[in-house]
Amino acid sequence: MQASGDTKEPPLPLALSRFQVSEEFGFLLPDPLTELPAPYGPWMDIARELPQLIASHQLRSRVRQMPQLSSQHLRGREELHLAHLVLSFITMGYVWQEGEEGTVQVLPRNLAVPYWEVSQALGLPPILSHADFVLANWRRKDPNGPLEIENLDTIITLPGGESLQGFILVTLLVEKAAVPGIKAISRALGAILQCDEETLHRALEELAGAIKAMREALRQMHDHVDPEVFYSEIRIFLSGWKDNPAMPHGLIYEGVSPEPLAYSGGSAAQSSVLHAFDELLGICHRQDSAAFLHRMRDYMPPPHRAFVEEVRGAVSLKQHVLSSGDARLRAAFNRCVSALTDFRSYHISIVTKYISTAAAKARARRAQPSASAGPAVGKPPSALEAKGTGGSHIFSFLKSIRDTTREGMISA
Ligand code: HEM
Repeated sequence: MQASGDTKEPPLPLALSRFQVSEEFGFLLPDPLTELPAPYGPWMDIARELPQLIASHQLRSRVRQMPQLSSQHLRGREELHLAHLVLSFITMGYVWQEGEEGTVQVLPRNLAVPYWEVSQALGLPPILSHADFVLANWRRKDPNGPLEIENLDTIITLPGGESLQGFILVTLLVEKAAVPGIKAISRALGAILQCDEETLHRALEELAGAIKAMREALRQMHDHVDPEVFYSEIRIFLSGWKDNPAMPHGLIYEGVSPEPLAYSGGSAAQSSVLHAFDELLGICHRQDSAAFLHRMRDYMPPPHRAFVEEVRGAVSLKQHVLSSGDARLRAAFNRCVSALTDFRSYHISIVTKYISTAAAKARARRAQPSASAGPAVGKPPSALEAKGTGGSHIFSFLKSIRDTTREGMISA
């Protein structure tokens, strides 16, 4: 757009607060609520006991006896997010309680209707997403203590014990490590508009540093998550009812729609962080991978999705760096792309350990003549052996995304 007249308005930076993005916590919900108002006691009582109710196969009958509560007494985004988190966990437990061979076709009305209402109010899908599982599911043990794993706890949990806690909390720490990078996006775009190359250079250095810190945070997965527990116990509860052979027809939300609805399961592919970094750096993924990632944006809180879209529509950083001919800027830009490629390679190694190696071991165990049929829970699911909980074909997808990231480098 041409500047009109000679009055030069200072360009507006991308104000994070406009998108419910926190300067301190990024996309994490700052200090989430841990209690719902008293009328929602029946939901909280069930949610607090989920691992035991699932292990004893009682969750479905407890849910069927639950009173049908209206969502109208929920006030503000914090209460809505906690309600969504609670109802999402109860729903995943309800659907997967008996493993992939004992799924249900109908989510009962007393759960489906309020879940639908809360989802509509937040603009989130009626299924567990990254926004519930991680962004809204944390509290500090000591409210004045640091945001470190020893001082963190989840609010609601599912089977998987300490490994589930670790999986959620390490992912949270990756989100937290991204915060300086999210702030750097806003600073970089402001600096381009003001032709302030010094600030732009600093912002790119901060972004590269944040991506490296995310990789360091991701390393903690090894210390806190047991691959066998992840594969055999945890993963099924994150699975959705879209592109999943275990639930090919989706799920009927009784009282909401007579037709089954299909939704992808929870995945960090729904985190807004890498979507925003990709958009800033102008990374172009191949068509089918990009289509999957774009679909994952429907699972983000709408203000976060709007943030990613705003970065996408902003002035092109890559074009600016190219046309500046500035070697220092180009090197800083490339450090960001290289850090992002490394993060994705490291993530692939994690996925190999927690899914493909774990799946091979589970197959070998199944093949042993001594292997008993075993209880439904704890029996590794086979429907998603080669697919992610989001429903992607894991390795072709992840490698394609990593390779197209690398191709985003600017050559000298
Ligand atoms: C045990 C740990 C993890 C496993 C097994 C895992 C597995 C997967 C899988 C299978 C996918 C493919 C998409 C799908 O269908 O779900 C995926 C995508 C993705 N995961 Fe993870 N993941 C793990 C931890 C994390 C963490 C902590 C993050 C950081 C926030 C993360 C970020 C992503 C992103 C951003 C994608 C989309 C692809 C990309 O942009 O590179 N993952 N993950």
